[in-house]
Order: sequence, then structure tokens, then C-alpha cells
Amino acid sequence: MNICFHKFAINSLFPLLLVIASPSIVAAGEDQSQASLYERLGGYNAISAVVDDVVVQIAADEKLGRFWAHRGKDGIAREKQLIVDFIVAKAGGSLYYRGREMKLSHEGMQIDEKDWEILIGALKNTLHKFKVPAQESREVLEFFDTTKTDIVEKS
Ligand code: HEM
Repeated sequence: MNICFHKFAINSLFPLLLVIASPSIVAAGEDQSQASLYERLGGYNAISAVVDDVVVQIAADEKLGRFWAHRGKDGIAREKQLIVDFIVAKAGGSLYYRGREMKLSHEGMQIDEKDWEILIGALKNTLHKFKVPAQESREVLEFFDTTKTDIVEKS
């Protein structure tokens, strides 16, 4: 009798124990459309890898390279970190961006429309290379677009 009850208890409690003990099983059933862009992009490391890849391309570009010429390695690393932090914070990651806002940090650089096109071209290459899904790629591009009026000064 005891053995039977024991078996019944284990059988009926097992699914409940599984749910309590394993949050990843619950998460797998969650509606992913509710997840932040930060989560859907794959989190901090994925965003950092995307920024690295874009910065390598634009720093090597014949026209855009002027902004990074003659700058120290640490200055570039610091700026790249601020860009990662900015995107992580805006995409819903739990990080407080401590850099300057876009207008203040780019004012006077005379960034023009062609510079912008080169940056967006590099970003599109990277999103494609990293196989970022269409919906998330669209959201990243839309987010960049929201910063454009603060950054581009010349047509
Ligand atoms: C063609 C477009 C762009 C160019 C040429 C450019 C260039 C630069 C340069 C040269 C700096 C360093 C400024 C300094 O040391 O004082 C900088 C800083 C920064 N940029 Fe851009 N940028 C561009 C677009 C963007 C975009 C689209 C974003 C965001 C999505 C962005 C985010 C930042 C951030 C967060 C910083 C650091 C701000 C700080 O120092 O507090 N930039 N950018």
C-alpha cells in the first residue's frame, strides 16, 4: 500500500517538479515575440561581436577611415565599448549607458549622407554575415535610423 502511494505521488508530482526545477523548460514555452530586441539578438556578446565587425569595416573604409585615423588604440576601444553599451541599453539590456548623447558626441564632425550610407552598408553586411533574422535586422536598422538626424550634419 505504502509502495503504491509512493509511486502515485512520484508520478503525479513529477511534471510539477520538472517545471519548478528547470526554468529553461518554462522559458522554452514562452512567447518569444515578447522578448526584448536585446534578448532576440543573442545578448551582450552577440551585440559586441556585431559592433566589432562593423567598426573594423568602417575604420578601413577609404572615406570613413578619416574619423579613426591617428587615434590611439585605447581611444578606439573605449569608443567601441560606449557604442556597445549604447545599443545594449537601447535594445532592452540591463545596462546604464554612461556616454554622451548622439548629438553632443558627433556635433562638428561634418558627417555627411555618404558617410551614413557607408556605415549602413557595413552594418547590413554584418547582419547578413551573422545571419541575424529579417525581423531583428529590420529593427536594428530602424533603431540606427532614429539616431541619424542627431549625427548627420551635411547632405
Ligand atoms: C557615419 C556615422 C558615424 C561616424 C562617422 C561616427 C564617428 C564617431 C567618432 C569619431 C566618435 C568619437 C568621438 C570622440 O572621441 O569624441 C564617435 C563616438 C560615438 N558614436 Fe559614433 N559615428 C557614427 C555613427 C554612430 C551611430 C549610428 C551610433 C549609434 C548607433 C554611434 C554611437 C556612438 C557612441 C555611443 C559614441 C561615444 C560617445 C561618447 O564618447 O560619449 N555613432 N562616433
